[in-house]
Amino acid sequence: MKKINKHIPVLLDETIKNLNLKDDGVYVDATLGMGGYTRKILDNSNCTLIGIDRDPFAIKEALPLKKKYGVRLKLINGLFSNIEEILKELKIQMINGITFDFGVSSPQLENYKRGFSFRLDGPLDMRMGQNNFSASDFINKNDQITIENILRFYGEEKKARQISKAIISARPIETTKQLAEIVYTILGTPKKNKINPATKTFQALRIAVNNELEEIKTALNASLKLLVPKGRILAVSFHSLEDRIVKKFFHENSNLKENSNRHLPPSFNSSPKLKIISKKPILPTETELNHNIRSRSAKLRIAEKLPQKNKNISEAA
Ligand SMILES: C[S@@+](CC[C@H](N)C(=O)[O-])C[C@H]1O[C@@H](n2cnc3c(N)ncnc32)[C@H](O)[C@@H]1O
Repeated sequence: MKKINKHIPVLLDETIKNLNLKDDGVYVDATLGMGGYTRKILDNSNCTLIGIDRDPFAIKEALPLKKKYGVRLKLINGLFSNIEEILKELKIQMINGITFDFGVSSPQLENYKRGFSFRLDGPLDMRMGQNNFSASDFINKNDQITIENILRFYGEEKKARQISKAIISARPIETTKQLAEIVYTILGTPKKNKINPATKTFQALRIAVNNELEEIKTALNASLKLLVPKGRILAVSFHSLEDRIVKKFFHENSNLKENSNRHLPPSFNSSPKLKIISKKPILPTETELNHNIRSRSAKLRIAEKLPQKNKNISEAA
């Protein structure tokens, strides 16, 4: 029987190298997971690191690291959108860098009891932490239009209407297998070497259950306030919805604002807060792709906080 895999960190070297680690710096690993980034950061400099994860299991697994790193490592079970409150509680005012590695970890995905995977039958749960509602609550309690919209916008699923109607007729739905089979009745059964037809539906529900996109938007804004000048934000995304949020946030806060109308020239931001370091996202190398299938869709974006000019009197007035 296949054993639950340990998590192989994605774009690890590229992320750590671009954090510009400093001894005595304070860094945040906003998505601790199985501690891949955290360990590498702590091994590569004499810094302090705050590891945050909403999943109590991730925190429990990381506790033995406290023996090795002592007071340099602080572990927090919480949401990264609460980073300002978390740091305030720790009496930390500014940070030198922050990493995000979105999505689920391998132990979350491969534990059938967590209900993230259409490959393993289990309760349709999908909660990364301790939210109020599970994926089965979501599809059993919401109306067809709400489910359709979630599948369309969070899954970019073209057959959102048909799938949501099939879900409504089959309710109550309690297991991952039940849901996957409903999707197969609309999109066909899985084919060898092709993406599973239930992928988009499962992605959409996971995003909704964990409020993932709002979490990212709030955390990026909060991180920018907390960074010292030249401090960096690094974000690894796994699908276009995540990547679009990061890209937009970096552009809006950099000196080149993207224009929503692509026929107009970009407009300039008179008080940019960020410099974009990765003009194009950094992608995994061939070697990483061969070694870790999960890295297939990963994209790393990097931005650096600019020193803020003091406002002159006329600007402030
Ligand atoms: C892909 S894993 C991170 C893996 C990690 N970089 C490593 O090398 O082991 C993502 C982790 O982020 C956590 N997570 C996702 N959204 C979160 C949020 N809003 N706040 C805190 N943790 C979150 C998940 O529970 C999961 O453990």
